[in-house]
Order: sequence, then structure tokens, then C-alpha cells
Amino acid sequence: MNIEVLKNEIYKLKEEKNALIVAHNYQIDEVQEIADFVGDSFYLSKVCAERPEEVIVFCGVHFMAESAKILSPHKKVLLPEIDAGCPLADMVTAEDVENLKKKYPDYSIVCYINSPASVKAKSDVICTSSNAVKIVREFPNDKIIFLPDKNLGSFVRKQVPEKDIILWEGFCITHYKIKKEDVEKAKSLHPNALVLVHPECRPEVVELADFVGSTKQIIDFATASKEKEFIIGTEMGVLYSLKKLNPDKKFYILHPGMICPNMKKNTLQSVRDALLYERYQIEVEEEIMQGAKRALAKMLEMG
Ligand code: 13P
Repeated sequence: MNIEVLKNEIYKLKEEKNALIVAHNYQIDEVQEIADFVGDSFYLSKVCAERPEEVIVFCGVHFMAESAKILSPHKKVLLPEIDAGCPLADMVTAEDVENLKKKYPDYSIVCYINSPASVKAKSDVICTSSNAVKIVREFPNDKIIFLPDKNLGSFVRKQVPEKDIILWEGFCITHYKIKKEDVEKAKSLHPNALVLVHPECRPEVVELADFVGSTKQIIDFATASKEKEFIIGTEMGVLYSLKKLNPDKKFYILHPGMICPNMKKNTLQSVRDALLYERYQIEVEEEIMQGAKRALAKMLEMG
């Protein structure tokens, strides 16, 4: 179907169903273009919880739509592509958390939002890349188990040296591709550019960056900056907002492989089908829902 026809159908269905469309910064350009709100995980989780619409089309990956459902159980939350998952989220299970709790009974579990609801339900508090440092720093326990992302965890550990932080071994397969040599090469090619990276990057990459932040924080930083050139160390979907908001600035992506295959699954066609057929509805088991809601609500309260 023609792009303009699809877009018009989406706007019409959205109106008819009084639906909200939100898109993560890694979505394809056309999907970001038709969304009501575009942002990072934290921003979108807040938007979904606060907005009045009863139907939410979440253009992102499964854990994001699941978190929206947990925060607003009465709403119909739709994920256009049901197999848009997150390999990082799948690197830890509820059983792993149970075992950690038995081994380290004095520790509190701070869980990155990139995780399944069953893991969130067994955690003390959730965090996103934009508030992980604040949550760990302010959580009232000096002994923390941070999971599942070892790179974000290691960034937090550096910022909060006063706490004893145990890391889990998970990582993002896309950010992991960026090596120290890529940063060195990009810096020599663009000596005037600032390096902005996501904290899911390896520690040796984060070490060389001028700014470390969530996708939204990277976009906000580049937009507020007086500098004109930036080397970007995260998924290339952020280029949509970076270029739109900063037509006079130059952006260089750190690695050609910065494409999250799962984030790229949602298309205009699947968004239209999501609205038309009200699919794919996200459901969470009642028992898991309660625990996960407590941990997510704690994040919103602290963050
Ligand atoms: P944000 O916190 O920037 O949304 O990052 C989420 C994510 O999954 C990064 O890979």
C-alpha cells in the first residue's frame, strides 16, 4: 500500500479508536513521523501512564509495551509486531533472580527496564538508562545487584563508587558492536566532533565519550550544544530526531552496524494493522503484574 494512504488510514483509525501512538527513538523514520510521542524508555513509560487514551499502540519492543501495560492495566496496549523482542531482556530469568536473592540476601535488586515482567516482579526497583545512576545512588541500601546489563551497570558503578554493586552478565548485542578502535578512528576522522554514547556501550567506549546518556538525553544534549559536529554511539534511529531538530549540525554514526533488528520490525503497515485488528494485545499474569507494578512505580516515585 502507498505510504500516504497508509498514513491517512492510521490517522483515521487512531481518531476512531481514540488511540495513542508512541514510538521509541530507534523506530524507523516513518513510524516516528506518525507517532504522537517519540522518546526514550523512561519518557514513554511516563507518557503511557499519564495520558487518558484507553488504547496505546506501542512502537518499540516487547518489554516496553509490557511495562506500559503494567503501569496501566486497564488500558489496551498493542505491540504491532509481537516478535519484536530484546535479546538483552532475555539474558536474565526470574529463576536467576531467585538464586541471586538466596546467595546475596542483604542486597537489593535494581533491574534495568530491558527485562521481562517476571524479573521485574522479583526486583526492588526498576531503572532506565536515563535514571539508573540516580536510582542506584538514592536507593536506601549500599549493597546492590544490578541486572541484566553489565555495561550500564559498570557505568553506574563508576558514578556511584560508594556502593557495592554486583553486575549480571547481560549486554545489548547492537551496542556491543562498538569497539574502542571505532571511537579512535571516528575521532581522527572528525577531530572537532563531540562523542555522545549510550551507557549500554562497552566501558572502554564510554570512557572515551564526551557525553553518556539515554537516547533522549543524547538528542537533548546535541540540540542544546553550541558545537556543530557529533559522533553518535547508539542505534541509528536517533538520527531521525537529531537531524530534524538540528538541520545545521552534522552527525556521524560510530559503527555501520548500529541497527537493532527488533526495533526495526514495526512498519507503517503493522501499525495500521495493530489499530485495525487491535493486535497484538499485551497481557501480563496477575501475580507477576502486582510485583512488577510495585517495582516500576517505585522508579517513577524516585525518578
Ligand atoms: P533508552 O533508555 O534511551 O530508551 O534506551 C533503551 C534501549 O533499549 C537502548 O538500547
